[in-house]
Amino acid sequence: MSDKLATQIEKIVRKAAGIEHGPVVLHEPFFNGNERQYVTDCIDTNWVSTVGKYVNLFEQLLSRVTGVKHCIATVNGTAALHICMILAGVQRDDEVLTQALTFVAAPNAISYCGAIPHFVDISPVSLGVCPDRLREYLQRIGEIREDSLFNRQTGRRIRSLLIMHTFGHPSHLDELKQICDEYKLILVEDAAEAIGSEYGRKHVGQHGLLSTLSFNGNKILTTGGGGAILTNDDEIARQARHLTTTGKVTHQWEYYHDCVAYNYRMPNLNAALGCAQLEKLSEVLTKKRLLASRYNSEFSKVDEITFFTEMPGVKSNYWLNAIILKKVSREQRNSLLDKLNDGGIMVRPAWNLSNTLPMYKSCPSDDLSVSLGIEESLINVPSSPSF
Ligand SMILES: Cc1ncc(COP(=O)(O)O)c(C=O)c1O
Repeated sequence: MSDKLATQIEKIVRKAAGIEHGPVVLHEPFFNGNERQYVTDCIDTNWVSTVGKYVNLFEQLLSRVTGVKHCIATVNGTAALHICMILAGVQRDDEVLTQALTFVAAPNAISYCGAIPHFVDISPVSLGVCPDRLREYLQRIGEIREDSLFNRQTGRRIRSLLIMHTFGHPSHLDELKQICDEYKLILVEDAAEAIGSEYGRKHVGQHGLLSTLSFNGNKILTTGGGGAILTNDDEIARQARHLTTTGKVTHQWEYYHDCVAYNYRMPNLNAALGCAQLEKLSEVLTKKRLLASRYNSEFSKVDEITFFTEMPGVKSNYWLNAIILKKVSREQRNSLLDKLNDGGIMVRPAWNLSNTLPMYKSCPSDDLSVSLGIEESLINVPSSPSF
């Protein structure tokens, strides 16, 4: 079965990517604008580090693209998540609800604060946290005391819900925000993979008090390494800037720092790359959606496969296209992954569920059967914007 299926998938990928022979990579950067010119400008002017015109410009352009009032550029998306957890008020021994099917940066950022990730299941429609399951779970294990939510089973405070827009597909934002309001949870959106994705007519990242982006080399828009914190709250934005800039109090010559903070600001060199990339974002998003529609029409002809599409009412950036294999075992999926990668088609499964990683095995969790089913059957196929 897997030989025939591997051949079918390879054919579809090669046709959609327009690459007849040779390797087809999963997702590579697309530099076809002013990248070289802006980076050279940083070198020529010696503004290569965390201060410089491109950092400010990048933040302004990001605000324009996302519609979020404040954007604070960081060294990477993980650092942005760490600061968001701090600013959401997450403290030692708190719990933070998050999906188990996510990149390890999310539970890690929770752990950096001495808090405990608490895993919940996803919706098969969005691949983000399932609002119905979450509500039912909180009714069972949650208790509101002193204006905070507590876990009846562990006695710990549950401070925040950290959601993620998986592969660029927006989560059920209205429903999740409603639950957070009812249960006194601070909503944080990990939009690392979702620049350009919309919920309703709005860019994602506006339902949470805070949200984050990543500009790692495998993302739709890259700064080499980089991330951003997004918020509409003026005071939170001020604190985010301060905490990512070593807590330095602005002064012409004095070096005075008023709190334990972090050296998390994005360097000008990286921001220069980002400015050039942002200029091409809408072109890239169009290409991504066209690629997804080519995949959709071809994969829909294969009985054993469902091509994952955006849910109604949202617009996904289709960062990484995903197929779901029907009725296959983990072994069959692995053998398919081996065959395709051996043949030069770079495909990958979703992440191993966070609750199975050694450091998170003993964390609290709800039943995760949907996450497990997706983890076993989903494969990401090559999705470069250059196709
Ligand atoms: C969902 C998600 N969250 C967080 C991150 C962390 O971003 P970074 O690699 O920039 O630290 C990534 C990607 O890399 C991601 O995919």
